[in-house]
Amino acid sequence: MFLNFRRIRKCQFVQVMTTCLVLSVVMVCWEQLDHSVVSHIKSYSFRYLINSFTYINRSLTIPREQASYFSNFSYLLDHPNKCADKDVLLLLFVKSSPKNIERRNAIRATWGNETYIQNTLGVTVKVLFALGAIQTKQNELSQSSSDINYQKQLIKEDHLHGDLIQKDFLDSFHNLTLKLILQFHWMHSRCAHAHFFMTADDDIFVHMPNLVSYLQDLNSKGVTDFWIGRVHRGAPPIRSMDSKYYVPFEMYQWLSYPDYTAGASYVISSDVADKIYHASLTLNASLYIDDVFMGICANAMGVSPQDHVYFSGEGKAPYHQCIYNQMITSHGHVEDIYDLWKAATDPHVKQTASGLLGRLYCTVIKITLLCRPYYATYPCKAAFL
Ligand SMILES: *[C@@H]1O[C@H](CO)[C@@H](O)[C@H](O)[C@H]1NC(C)=O
Ligand SMILES: *[C@@H]1O[C@H](CO)[C@@H](O)[C@H](O)[C@H]1NC(C)=O
Ligand SMILES: *[C@@H]1O[C@H](CO)[C@@H](O)[C@H](O)[C@H]1NC(C)=O
Ligand SMILES: *[C@@H]1O[C@H](CO)[C@@H](O)[C@H](O)[C@H]1NC(C)=O
Ligand SMILES: *[C@@H]1O[C@H](CO)[C@@H](O)[C@H](O)[C@H]1NC(C)=O
Repeated sequence: MFLNFRRIRKCQFVQVMTTCLVLSVVMVCWEQLDHSVVSHIKSYSFRYLINSFTYINRSLTIPREQASYFSNFSYLLDHPNKCADKDVLLLLFVKSSPKNIERRNAIRATWGNETYIQNTLGVTVKVLFALGAIQTKQNELSQSSSDINYQKQLIKEDHLHGDLIQKDFLDSFHNLTLKLILQFHWMHSRCAHAHFFMTADDDIFVHMPNLVSYLQDLNSKGVTDFWIGRVHRGAPPIRSMDSKYYVPFEMYQWLSYPDYTAGASYVISSDVADKIYHASLTLNASLYIDDVFMGICANAMGVSPQDHVYFSGEGKAPYHQCIYNQMITSHGHVEDIYDLWKAATDPHVKQTASGLLGRLYCTVIKITLLCRPYYATYPCKAAFL
């Protein structure tokens, strides 16, 4: 009797303690939770119920002379004839920083090798790197010698490969929108005949054979009004100043961004590229989150993005032949890019996934790899394609 009573007391004690613990965790996290839950409720309501992004368009429209500030930086490195070939399937811009020469070399030697693409896949793809200028110290009268050396190295690299497009704005995170505008202006004046345009980070892996066959298929159907990637719908602007993506109210006052694709990698058709170019001529491009700004331009021109399950917004694809068989892009690759390229383009990949048995095997594998909680690179439904 006495023992039983003690046990009950003990149980109650544990219960009370647990409740206290949970309550205090909730109290500590409430502000955070409240913040993100409320801001998502607001942004989804704005996106799905109000859906009136015309205000954004109207308020960000500025006179052309003022908008030209964002595109009028002069070229430091350029290749006006790079796109002279008649039939260019894809113009692919990689957003890179001056110091990331190793990433560029890895891309040139793997998925971005134009010669390989031409010889093996039989299409013309132009791969260019979009760069800003190297930072010069503010309080020095002349550029420091290391900066000049840096630029000299870039010029040397460019002599060797002929694929750097650089403009005279500071290469920084908060100038990414200027880099976006650089790409659209370059395409407009130098490569308007390319069928597709793609932009990607320099730590992206692109499964070029899969991408090319996908785009060839679309091209043969004469697709237009096309914009594909990993879509963000109803994303709220981030108002917390600790965040890299912080946007002040004065810069963007609405509760939700128009739909946009993750800047890590997306593809558009050339008619859309032309529309974005024209939108950029009259919009205030101070909003420094480049993929969001792309969404604003597209919205102003009435273009909406579509989701592709094998474009990665964030995160690496699982290393498996069944994934390689269908993947288009994967994010966050630097050291492993050579190995991944070799493995992903191995002829065995197609063999493994072919036939009834192969397809069945791959579906089971993909379910185990993709349909897990907290796994976000490719959605679970990608397992069933
Ligand atoms: C663009 O820059 C050039 C000098 O680089 C300048 O002469 C011209 O007025 C600028 N254009 C506009 C519209 O700001
Ligand atoms: C690109 O591919 C070609 C042909 O496959 C090869 O000869 C060349 O070495 C490759 N380039 C680089 C930078 O690896
Ligand atoms: C963007 O580039 C311009 C031109 O070089 C520079 O004045 C400005 O400070 C840069 N902005 C940021 C946030 O780096
Ligand atoms: C563009 O937006 C920025 C930030 O919101 C603002 O400071 C600037 O005055 C605007 N530019 C024009 C020309 O309206
Ligand atoms: C956005 O504004 C521009 C210029 O004011 C206008 O031509 C365009 O039709 C607007 N787009 C939408 C979707 O309202």
